[in-house]
Amino acid sequence: MKTNTTSPMIDLSLKKDGTTDTAAFARDVAQGLSQQPRSLSSRYFYDAEGSRLFQQIMQLPEYYLTRCEYEVMEDNKEAMCREFAGGGFFHLIDLGAGDALKTKILLQQLARQQSAFEYVPVDISGDAMAQLSQSLQSQLPAVQVEAVVGEYFKALEWLQANKAARKVVLFLGSNIGNFKTSESQDFLRRIRSYLRPGDKLLVGVDLRKDPHQILRAYDDASGVTAAFNLNLLRRINRELGGNFDLAQFQHYAMYNPGDGVMRSFLISKTDQQVFIRDTGSTYHFSAWEAIHTENSHKYTLPHIKELGQACGFNPETVFLDKKSQFADVLFAVT
Ligand code: AVJ
Repeated sequence: MKTNTTSPMIDLSLKKDGTTDTAAFARDVAQGLSQQPRSLSSRYFYDAEGSRLFQQIMQLPEYYLTRCEYEVMEDNKEAMCREFAGGGFFHLIDLGAGDALKTKILLQQLARQQSAFEYVPVDISGDAMAQLSQSLQSQLPAVQVEAVVGEYFKALEWLQANKAARKVVLFLGSNIGNFKTSESQDFLRRIRSYLRPGDKLLVGVDLRKDPHQILRAYDDASGVTAAFNLNLLRRINRELGGNFDLAQFQHYAMYNPGDGVMRSFLISKTDQQVFIRDTGSTYHFSAWEAIHTENSHKYTLPHIKELGQACGFNPETVFLDKKSQFADVLFAVT
């Protein structure tokens, strides 16, 4: 049931004519598929079906990341929220909030300690933000919420123009791991440009561990991750008029313990041609040719601290789960 008491939601994802940006999707796909080696960006995984599959991934016995970060939050919520709240009213900005399962632990704690704050979840999925607004209204009615639908930087720009108060930015779930090293620096520097002394940033990173355990998390026995990866081709078929035959591609994941990067691919099982209407091109795939679809970086603690320091942040506190598999690092703006 819809009521008019639902918290406000800002939608920055639409273009002026009201359509979503399929032109940018087509451009990125055209570019990635004409490169050698070929690639597609993992940012396009998350259509409605992809978001549903990612929810399933987070439930998998092999996908330890979410459970570990949940434990980090549960075990450290008091110390974390004390550090957030010192300094008066703030906006808690949750970049890529999704279902906010882990953030809800912090929201509960902040509500319990009666901190003055507003929660601003940001996500490209409008469905996810509508659902989150609703669930927060019933679970944590005391928390002020304003959800923003849109890309990270559009949202940060909007926030800078509309929300002047102190900011605590969350970038959880090892989402930073999807960037190349140079991109993660650009990303953190850009976040830094929207912040001021007194503001804070909490970054969740997956730590290096037994390579077998990492590999299993991205190549699960029940094939959910394979379906998640292949869904990218289905999305191209649906939104860009492609004719990928999904049965002719397979998921392949490999972890390189040398650089700490988990890499995912879609492999063409045969020699085949694929036409995509919106890129206006036919692509020829040789048998066993790969399309690179995702990087998931695994960090060491010195590495993530240095990354922050190089971007204008001072590492203040490292929060860990009991087995030190995952870290949430709190940075202050220097
Ligand atoms: C949402 C980017 C953190 O890299 O672990 C899960 C996405 N890909 N399984 C990750 C993902 C394959 C996930 N992140």
